[in-house]
Amino acid sequence: MSKIALTGIKPTGTPHIGNYFGAILPALELAKSYTAFYFIADYHALTTVKDGKALQAQTYEVAATWLALGLDYEKATFFRQSDVPEVFELQWILSCFTPKGLLNRAHAYKASVDQNIATQKDSDDGINAGLFNYPVLMASDILMFGTNVVPVGLDQKQHIEITRDIAETFNNVYGDLLTVPEGLIQEDLMTIPGIDGRKMSKNYNNTLPLFLPPKKLRKRVMQIQTDSKTVEEPKNPDECNVFGIYKLFAPPQQIQDLRTRYESSGMGYGAAKQELYELLENRFGQNREKYNSYIENPAEIERILFEGAKKARAIARERLNKIRSAIGTTPLST
Ligand code: TRP
Repeated sequence: MSKIALTGIKPTGTPHIGNYFGAILPALELAKSYTAFYFIADYHALTTVKDGKALQAQTYEVAATWLALGLDYEKATFFRQSDVPEVFELQWILSCFTPKGLLNRAHAYKASVDQNIATQKDSDDGINAGLFNYPVLMASDILMFGTNVVPVGLDQKQHIEITRDIAETFNNVYGDLLTVPEGLIQEDLMTIPGIDGRKMSKNYNNTLPLFLPPKKLRKRVMQIQTDSKTVEEPKNPDECNVFGIYKLFAPPQQIQDLRTRYESSGMGYGAAKQELYELLENRFGQNREKYNSYIENPAEIERILFEGAKKARAIARERLNKIRSAIGTTPLST
């Protein structure tokens, strides 16, 4: 049996090409060499998203995005966190093996506390216990499925360490019931430039969303910031945001050709942007059609997620029952 890789996707914000190259593509690649689990972490999003319609819409957006980009839901297990209630029972159990001080030191919680202190508020002002307990829910997601590796960005590294801590503490008491996972940390991720040259991020409002309609996409590409060199002047492709995005996924020969055009006279930035737009269209146009067909058919998304949840729950129930036996509660009949 191949090892298990598990990816949690928080349904916040519209997926953009920075997400694609930084997270989605590498996570989809893992399905080639691992038994892959992908899930939408909607109950993690509830710590911040307090609008039911928005949470549902974002859940569908994220599901449609991953499906449109090639997630094979028959081969992998693809589900929505809230459809697997076993996870929340495990969260309670694990919380009884989590030192509170460990959670005090978790980055997201600590940052909110520090912010409050800096602004002379009560240290826990405006902080919900969901944010505080967030790492335990994440540990539960991971440990529930016997996960071996978790691909995450650097910002999630501490969560993996907390998960390992909790698993080891639990195993020390009851024997090796939980698999201690490894983080597959993508430290040297290429930074994807946004349209203003800073790292592409929804926080900077500088993204190229993956599935904008063609006209809007073209308009957005035309907004990419460049210097003001004229058509006649030779240009440095390595200092240009347009080229920086282009080279992420154009074929090598095309990259070389565009480089040559930058370095010689006669190409304006408008032409380079048009090249980039066409490349994006070629690469993601078909995915967009698939995406739109899912968005127009949420019942199909529900069907896929429900099938995924069935598979996930069977695995979850088995592990949970072993844990129930160990801790002295009674296994549920299946
Ligand atoms: N906390 C992760 C994030 O913000 C999402 C997540 C929830 C997750 N549960 C997980 C990631 C389990 C990996 C494994 O991106």
